[in-house]
Amino acid sequence: MGETLYPVPAAWAADALIDEARYREMYARSIEDPEGFWREQAQRIDWIRPFTRVKETSFHEADFGIAWFADGTLNLSANALDRHLAERGEAIAILWEPDDPAEPHREISYRALHADVCRFANLLKAKGVGRGDRVTIYLPMVPEAAVAMLACARIGAIHSIVFAGFSPDALAGRIVDCDSRIVLTADEGLRGGKRVRLKANVDEALAQCPGVETVIVLRRTGADVAMQPGRDIDWHDAVAAQSPDCPPEEMSAEDPLFILYTSGSTGKPKGVLHTTGGYSVWASITHQYVFDYRPGQVYWCAADIGWVTGHSYVVYGPLMNGATTVMFEGVPNWPDPSRFWQVVDKFGVEIFYGAPTALRALMREGDDWVTRTSRSTLRLLGSVGEPINPEAWEWYHKVVGEERCPIVDTWWQTETGGTMITPLPGATALKPGSATRPFFGVRPALLDNDGTEIEGAGNGCLVITDSWPGQMRTVWGDHERFFQTYFTTFAGQYFTGDGCRRDEDGYYWITGRIDDVINVSGHRMGTAEIESALVAHVSVAEAAVVGMPHDIKGQGIYAFVTTNADVEPDEALRRELIQWVRHEIGPIATPDVIQFAPALPKTRSGKIMRRILRKIGENDVSNLGDTSTLADPSVVDHLLANRPQLA
Ligand code: WTA
Repeated sequence: MGETLYPVPAAWAADALIDEARYREMYARSIEDPEGFWREQAQRIDWIRPFTRVKETSFHEADFGIAWFADGTLNLSANALDRHLAERGEAIAILWEPDDPAEPHREISYRALHADVCRFANLLKAKGVGRGDRVTIYLPMVPEAAVAMLACARIGAIHSIVFAGFSPDALAGRIVDCDSRIVLTADEGLRGGKRVRLKANVDEALAQCPGVETVIVLRRTGADVAMQPGRDIDWHDAVAAQSPDCPPEEMSAEDPLFILYTSGSTGKPKGVLHTTGGYSVWASITHQYVFDYRPGQVYWCAADIGWVTGHSYVVYGPLMNGATTVMFEGVPNWPDPSRFWQVVDKFGVEIFYGAPTALRALMREGDDWVTRTSRSTLRLLGSVGEPINPEAWEWYHKVVGEERCPIVDTWWQTETGGTMITPLPGATALKPGSATRPFFGVRPALLDNDGTEIEGAGNGCLVITDSWPGQMRTVWGDHERFFQTYFTTFAGQYFTGDGCRRDEDGYYWITGRIDDVINVSGHRMGTAEIESALVAHVSVAEAAVVGMPHDIKGQGIYAFVTTNADVEPDEALRRELIQWVRHEIGPIATPDVIQFAPALPKTRSGKIMRRILRKIGENDVSNLGDTSTLADPSVVDHLLANRPQLA
């Protein structure tokens, strides 16, 4: 396959924070002398008590542990807010664009945001929230979501944001797992002109969460929602009485900052825990260098705060760097498919960071929706969350960026805290579809299935061989699971779950998950979670879920379902199951295909042969591999003969 190489534009090479020579020099130093490198780089943070210890990490069972800057103290909200007040207090911190373009946007200065955060932090304290307490946030994309995050960081409380598209059941599971006694929500959310009944979802969830004592309800739409006396309080009323002065708590570098639940290949979603010091260093340094960020530039990351991208690159990274960060409540294609680019023009956005799934959907609507807008302020584009196919990359580059804007295709994970493999716009020649090279301090390696390292060009499992400051520290409440999940597949290595190819130039090409995780529209989902939702239905005996190629979503959800003996599967049941999964998990888990089957292919020991189901899902059935160990090979023939017609 002939790869096009896009060299660094001359203007970028001349002017960028990091050019090729500097990348090479800094990368080499970061690997040869991580202690010295990070001791210096961590000075970007305002420490209350400077650290003397830097890197204390081991991925090995005997002395397993991860700590960075452990004896330093700091406060992240002070780094995101207070430190900017003297120099750029009146600069805009958050530019908020509502769902409906007819509604006015909001501009919040650093000074105003600081006051809002202090007031809300005081409200949390008044409600008994203190250091180490968990606060569940179930809010739409409104500035108050950022205020809530920063207020938690200010008083040392641990936030756990639950994406506002998750169902009451999914929300309840996450509240119970981390034992939150307080939930922050809104009456309703607005997305693409539709209302999302957030408060009603919270009420339904809380029926299963007896530990929750307080719900703070933001009025977003003004809908008439039930308020439970003694438990539910009105955000605006309660905050108005609070003082705009709240000194930041002095936190240790390794004090927890937030929990974010994410899906793995087995079991319930895990509470990924990030701590304060290393995460602050990582989110800010990656934001500055990957986006070549200079104060004053208008920067827009279109992710939701319910995902890690929203944490690191809508809120924490940009605000630590004094950025003007755009927060967008809406969706790319409403009221029409020009919406993103109209917002770019409205605010003069210079840096835009989005997901391939949105680009593919917009690409399908035709170039005119893009070209009718100016986009003249754009200088850099980014991509995140899933592999970007070269066709979408080329479209993004040519049509959206008019061949003027480099594209940073950033590979990373909830677990990594920030970008790991990514171009730097002034340093890296680009290849469409490749996340290119490691960021400072990141040591990727490719292993074959036996754990032997592949040198040079090749294809294998992507691992990271040494710690970096932004790495997650544990799974909330289950440190053993943290070790088992990430450090035992290949002893002594951080296992990413991704497959990857490295080419002759040392560029990395992520090929997608090699475990039972699928990536639907950039949202990560465990097939096991969808399976357990399906089998919870009275008519379902057994279910197996795999990914399938999908033009827009990247991957779709293909479910094989065996019904109970007395149930005759039909179209009505298919529809019912689809609704059921939406209700159990949320609309993002809606199955694209449900194939009913009298039986699933199993080995003689009773294990479902997922490899075969994956191939059927991928419509790659010419060679199903060895089926001789199947208990009943005719099951596969039946599955093949009864595949649903796909659109
Ligand atoms: C995938 C999102 C290819 C990958 C930040 C990873 C990517 C998972 C890319 C993590 C990319 C993310 N190219 N694949 N640029 N970025 N992925 O935790 O499979 O929601 O393991 O974090 O998304 O998803 P998560």
